[in-house]
Amino acid sequence: MEKMWAGRFSKALDKEADDFNSSIHFDCKMYKQDITGSMEHAAMLSACNIISQDESLQIIDGLQTILDDIDSGKLAIDTDAEDIHMFVEAQLTKRIGDVGKKLHTARSRNDQVAVDIRLYLRDEADEVIKLVLELIEVINEQAKKYAGTIMPGYTHLQRAQPVTFGHHLLAYAMMFTRDVGRLKDAKARMNYSPLGCCALAGTTYNTDREMTAKALGFDGVMLNSIDGVSDRDFCVELMSAFSLIMMHLSRFSEEIILWSSWEFKFIELDDSYTTGSSIMPQKKNPDMAELVRGKTGRVYGDLMALLTTLKGIPLAYNKDMQEDKEAIFDSVETVKKCLRVFTPMIATMKAIEENMYKAAQNGFINATDLADYLVKQGLPFRSAYKTVGQIVAYCIENKKVLEAMSLQEYKNFDSNFENDLYEAISLETCVEKRISLGGTSKVSVEKQIDYITEFLANEKGVH
Ligand code: ARG
Repeated sequence: MEKMWAGRFSKALDKEADDFNSSIHFDCKMYKQDITGSMEHAAMLSACNIISQDESLQIIDGLQTILDDIDSGKLAIDTDAEDIHMFVEAQLTKRIGDVGKKLHTARSRNDQVAVDIRLYLRDEADEVIKLVLELIEVINEQAKKYAGTIMPGYTHLQRAQPVTFGHHLLAYAMMFTRDVGRLKDAKARMNYSPLGCCALAGTTYNTDREMTAKALGFDGVMLNSIDGVSDRDFCVELMSAFSLIMMHLSRFSEEIILWSSWEFKFIELDDSYTTGSSIMPQKKNPDMAELVRGKTGRVYGDLMALLTTLKGIPLAYNKDMQEDKEAIFDSVETVKKCLRVFTPMIATMKAIEENMYKAAQNGFINATDLADYLVKQGLPFRSAYKTVGQIVAYCIENKKVLEAMSLQEYKNFDSNFENDLYEAISLETCVEKRISLGGTSKVSVEKQIDYITEFLANEKGVH
């Protein structure tokens, strides 16, 4: 196929170099955005008397037939074309003749591709927001169900203090609300139109950039044409938001994997989200969670690839920038795939409450509460802390838990101990007394559930 830019050259591009240069294999994904952008550009050209109204209508109709034919599968995207922009333009001229050649007036592929990616990512960001909101909702439902389920809370992966499973799950819901905020922020910053920046310097035609920006749903135009064609900040911002989502999913996955192991057995995943082994008949593996954890590296890699690509390129457009698309597409597709599997996996997950409770009974996770008991009798915290440390050492030596010590044994350590200490260190008391804002008691957890419910209602109102 002859190149549109062939005029200046006396020889065709080497075959290997041609393949190397081509981006149609991946930018074909943006055919809809490319055609939509072109339609609005054509409408603007006639509104500004740069082409006639009749020419504009012919172009727009021609573009519509191309769009319909690609959508219906009637027209296959020709992978010999250099990129999607060239393909659509060539098709247009094939269909409507020389008028088609007027479409590229007052435009360049540099602003064209910048528009296409923005339109593409704007929709994809909405889809990811929707998927994250669905996940938050599922977590919130599980949190409601397990608001009173006691489990050990950990630090250093050592049993630390009792919490409820609902409280623990809500920690993830909070993270994902911030992810929604980040996606929305990035979307708002990216929603400015580079169309009309042309190759880099703007144009001598009397165009109306505001008109195309408005028609394409942008909040305004990019104010510097060199920036307009060079900027890929929005890709980096979205990919870093995707990376944070993946990081959260990955930490969650790690816990799912631990909790479903025989060592913990805190949860049971549904059969539809687990796999068996080809050799070990007893196995039920949490592959989905492992894959999500694994794919996190991929999304980080995409972000690093683009950041590295961008760091050394001078203004304005350079062909290096063609590398943005595969990284972006991969990270968007990966994060969507992960969320689509992760959400129903969490929705169908069941807690094994008795195992959580048993685990909470061991490991002296009520030791802080025992120290607090002494503080309430008037001891300074540091002294109480020291006494309880000695009691724990005594228990370990005598293979006992705190609840199993007699009052006399307690009194041997401190005469302030009375019978009500047992009540004070029961797991239920430990949880229920933590009524501080954000804490693990039922009232505090219910407030968190209310916050998430309200967050979801607001977001749904916006979407
Ligand atoms: N395929 C190119 C890309 O993805 C489109 C822009 C080409 N511009 C150019 N001056 N060669 O970046």
